[in-house]
Amino acid sequence: MSIARLAEIVRHNQPCVVLTGAGVSTESGIPDFRSPTGIWARFDPLEYGSIEAFRADPARVWSFYAPRFSMLTEAEPNDAHRALAELERRGLVRAVVTQNIDLLHERAGSRDVVEVHGSIRSASCPGCALRVPLADVLPLLPVPPCPECGTVLKPDVVFFGELLPEEAIDRAVELARSAGVLLVAGSSLEVYPVAGLPEETLAAGGRLAIVNRGPTPFDGRADVRIDASAGETLRALARALGG
Ligand code: APR
Repeated sequence: MSIARLAEIVRHNQPCVVLTGAGVSTESGIPDFRSPTGIWARFDPLEYGSIEAFRADPARVWSFYAPRFSMLTEAEPNDAHRALAELERRGLVRAVVTQNIDLLHERAGSRDVVEVHGSIRSASCPGCALRVPLADVLPLLPVPPCPECGTVLKPDVVFFGELLPEEAIDRAVELARSAGVLLVAGSSLEVYPVAGLPEETLAAGGRLAIVNRGPTPFDGRADVRIDASAGETLRALARALGG
């Protein structure tokens, strides 16, 4: 019933923009942040995920990120990523706005991906601004020095206390405002400004659909809410839409 309802809302409220969070990558073996087994249950985000922590002790923050970088590069896209790429190919998803840094949407074949929290694609030097691609960062782990000036590189991901990449968040807001339906998949919708995107869609007269294990603050404002696996649900959605 709820898949049919979701398919009907996506079919009749185009364009559909998708907003994803860490919950679409857990089925690729990548832990999320706020579920009971999530990363922030084991690591203090202010000690390992904030720009202040990085500036104070970059080696300590890399002790957290280095294993994640290796794990993310070894992970494979799952059914959730593949279903969204297929729906984009069929013209039923306009773009994916993702909070994830793992590049799995792109590797699954999604073409219009807005990475609002940056990605592991590269790391940059706080000293000389050199941008170093992932392939050249990996051999320099666990604490990668800038090949030019020796300063410890910073991952090109958004730390707590940092502004989001302006172009990405501006495009994400524009997409949310123009969406007939914003489909949220695998996000707790706890972190702003991204958690403000559903409000942009609703305020502009669009609809909201949520696929997430566990509650989000926007559940009461969604036309459909499915508390289930993102992979199974999005695969079923692609089938229900004629895939
Ligand atoms: N299917 C559906 N939902 C899932 C699945 C799954 N297979 N696995 C986990 N979830 C749900 C979790 O229950 C949780 O509600 O996905 C949600 C993930 O929420 P968070 O862990 O808070 O991740 P996210 O919303 O992406 O966090 C936003 O916070 O720490 C920062 O920068 C980090 O981008 C991240 C941001």
